[in-house]
Amino acid sequence: MSLAGSNILVIGANGVLGSQIAQLLMQRGAQVIGTARANETAGSMPAGLAQALLLDLESDQSIETLVNYVMTSNIKLDGIVVASGLVAFGSVSDTPSAVAQRLMVVNHLAPSKVISGLLGRLAESQNEPFVASISGVVAEKIFPGMAAYVTSKTAHSTWLKALALEARRAGIRVVDARPGHTETGLAGRAIFGTAPAFAQGMTAEHVATVIVNALEQGLKDLPSEAF
Ligand SMILES: NC(=O)c1ccc[n+]([C@@H]2O[C@H](COP(=O)([O-])OP(=O)(O)OC[C@H]3O[C@@H](n4cnc5c(N)ncnc54)[C@H](OP(=O)(O)O)[C@@H]3O)[C@@H](O)[C@H]2O)c1
Repeated sequence: MSLAGSNILVIGANGVLGSQIAQLLMQRGAQVIGTARANETAGSMPAGLAQALLLDLESDQSIETLVNYVMTSNIKLDGIVVASGLVAFGSVSDTPSAVAQRLMVVNHLAPSKVISGLLGRLAESQNEPFVASISGVVAEKIFPGMAAYVTSKTAHSTWLKALALEARRAGIRVVDARPGHTETGLAGRAIFGTAPAFAQGMTAEHVATVIVNALEQGLKDLPSEAF
């Protein structure tokens, strides 16, 4: 697809990967609507966004407000990139169910709800519309000590596969990006537990570039080995 002149929503545009992706998309001529969870964190969204919005994935009201805003305004949408997410560490027996529930909401249920709510607008696009979401290598390989994260990401990856089958008829491409460990500091922001010692990860710039190249080139999947 041609990114020049396209309109793309980036969820989590203030995060390390999300802001890099948003910047690359803008450099290639896209108009980007970015979201951040709250005013306090919105300052790290990149400059030059077409619109900067708030979206708290843990609030049904916030999700409804965003979806209604896009669906009832004349905003065009050619793509959605989900770059939001939370991580937690801990064994199956140590991880509180409230933590597992929060990861399932933020990493899977809430972004799925946003995507579902906006599919109608994407289907109107004449520019090879897409949905891209960053699940991660954990959707391919189970690591011990992070079952809640792995489970939420695997659920989202499976949901994306189902969406890909259903959205194909509407001409919407669905890309499940599954990068391995990336040096964004995410592990240090875990909502529970402590990260194990990871080997040196990839740079955020590299991972963001692979994702944006794939969107431009029309690729339909981004397995871990693509990074
Ligand atoms: N880093 C890695 O090694 C790696 C590897 C594979 C996959 N991934 C995935 O890549 C995605 C981006 O991660 P990152 O490394 O760039 O981490 P990051 O910098 O911490 O970004 C996380 C993003 O998620 C947003 N977020 C968290 N809770 C939210 C909520 N309730 N509502 C709305 N937004 C929320 C954050 O917004 P606020 O700051 O406003 O809270 C931030 O924009 C995540 O899904 C992660 O699981 C990362």
